[in-house]
Amino acid sequence: MISRASLAVRVPGDKSISHRALICAALASGRSRIRNILRSADVRSTGGVLSALGANVPQLGDDVRVDGRGLGGLAAPDEPLDCGNSGTTARLMSGVLSGCSFPSRLIGDASLSRRPMGRVARPLTTMGAHFAFDSGEHLPMVVTGGRLREIEFDSPTASAQVKSAILLAGLVGCVRVTVREPVRSRDHTERMLAALGIDVRSLGLEASLEPASELAPFQLDVPADPSSAAFFAALAAAGGVRGGGPLELTDVALNPTRLGFFRVLRDMGADVTWEVHREECGEPVGTITVAPRGLQGVEIGGDQVPAMIDELPMLACLGALGDGVIEIRGASELRVKESDRIAAVVQNLRDVGADADELPDGLRVRGGTRSLGGAVQTHGDHRLAMAFGVLGALSGNAITVDDPDCVSVSYPGFWSDLERVTS
Ligand code: S3P
Repeated sequence: MISRASLAVRVPGDKSISHRALICAALASGRSRIRNILRSADVRSTGGVLSALGANVPQLGDDVRVDGRGLGGLAAPDEPLDCGNSGTTARLMSGVLSGCSFPSRLIGDASLSRRPMGRVARPLTTMGAHFAFDSGEHLPMVVTGGRLREIEFDSPTASAQVKSAILLAGLVGCVRVTVREPVRSRDHTERMLAALGIDVRSLGLEASLEPASELAPFQLDVPADPSSAAFFAALAAAGGVRGGGPLELTDVALNPTRLGFFRVLRDMGADVTWEVHREECGEPVGTITVAPRGLQGVEIGGDQVPAMIDELPMLACLGALGDGVIEIRGASELRVKESDRIAAVVQNLRDVGADADELPDGLRVRGGTRSLGGAVQTHGDHRLAMAFGVLGALSGNAITVDDPDCVSVSYPGFWSDLERVTS
C-alpha cells in the first residue's frame, strides 16, 4: 500500500463525458445543468455545432445550463458545422444528424479532414441516412438524415465513436439498434443514456437501444478525465513528482473501459491503486494514487488496446525509461488519430535519443538511454505534446515541444499543472 500522498491533482473534466453531456442536454426535454465540463477546444466544437443546430449552448463555464430542444427539435443549420480538431464531434454528431430530416455540411481542421469517416457513414447509410463526401471518405461531408431503419451492426473496429453514432442515430431516429464490437470500447454513451431513462442494454461486446419518445433533462458533475490523469500517473510512476513521492489524482472517472493504462502501469511495477467514492450518471468516480518503483517492460496486445487507446503515446514514452522493452501490437488505430501516432511517437523518440522501432500495428521501445534531449514535433497532436512534456519534465532530460499550445484541445492548463507538481 502507498502512504497517503502529499501532492494531489484534479485534472479537468472528462472529454468523452463532456461531449456526450452537451449532446444529451441539447436533445433532452427541459433544462439540464452540467458542472465541471471540460472547457477545451474539442468540447467547444461540440457546443458550437449544437448551437448552429438551434440548441443554444452557452459559453462553457463551471456551471453550464442547456435548454434542450427535445429529440426531434434540432433545426437545419445556416452554415457548415465546424468540428475543429474533434473526431468525437464529427462522428457522434453524424449519428444525431442521421435522425434529422435536413442536410448538414460538416467541416474540420486539416488533421480532422484526414481522418476516416466511412466507418460511421457505412452503418448510418444502411440505416437510411445519406452521406456525400467532397473526396474520399473524409470531411467535408454532407449528412442528410431522414426516416431510419433498425440495424444490427457488427463493427469491424472497436470504436466508441462508431458505436455511439449508431446509438444516437437510434435515439434521434426512434429505431431499435444493436452494435457488436470485436473488443469492448468505452461505454459512456450507454451509461449516460441508461441513467437518463433510455432502455439501453450492454452485455459483453453488444450494446442495444430501444426507441424512446423523450430524453430526461439531468444534472451532472463531470468527473476528471482519466486520459489526462494518465500523464500525471506516468510522471509519478517515473519518480518525476516533486520530492519523488506519490501523487493523488482526485475525482477521476473510474469507468473500467478507461483504466487500461493504470492496470498496465501496475503490471510494470508501479504502485497504483484506485478507490471509487461516488457515482455520477452511471459512472464510478474516485481517487487514483500512484507511487514510483522501478518500471519494467511490458507487452500490450489487441484486446488491451481500446481501454488505453489515448494513453499509448504516454506508455511508449515510458518505454524509453528503465531497462525493459515496451512492445505495443494490435494498435493500428493509432495511425488514424489526431496524427499517425505510431510514426510520430517513434520518430520523436528517436529524435530525443531513445531506441524505438515502428511496427505496422504498433511500436517497440527499448529502455536504457540515460538522458533524453532534443526537439519534438507534435503535428498539432495534443497527446504527443503532453507525453513528451512529461518525458521532458523528468530530471536529466531536456526536451522542447514545437507546439505546446495544442494541449488546448483536451487540457488547456496542462503546462501549469505540470509545473506545479514538478517544481
Ligand atoms: C472517444 C473514443 C475513442 C478515443 C477518443 C474519444 C469517444 O476514439 O480515442 O479520444 O469519446 O468516444 P475511437 O472511437 O475512434 O476509438
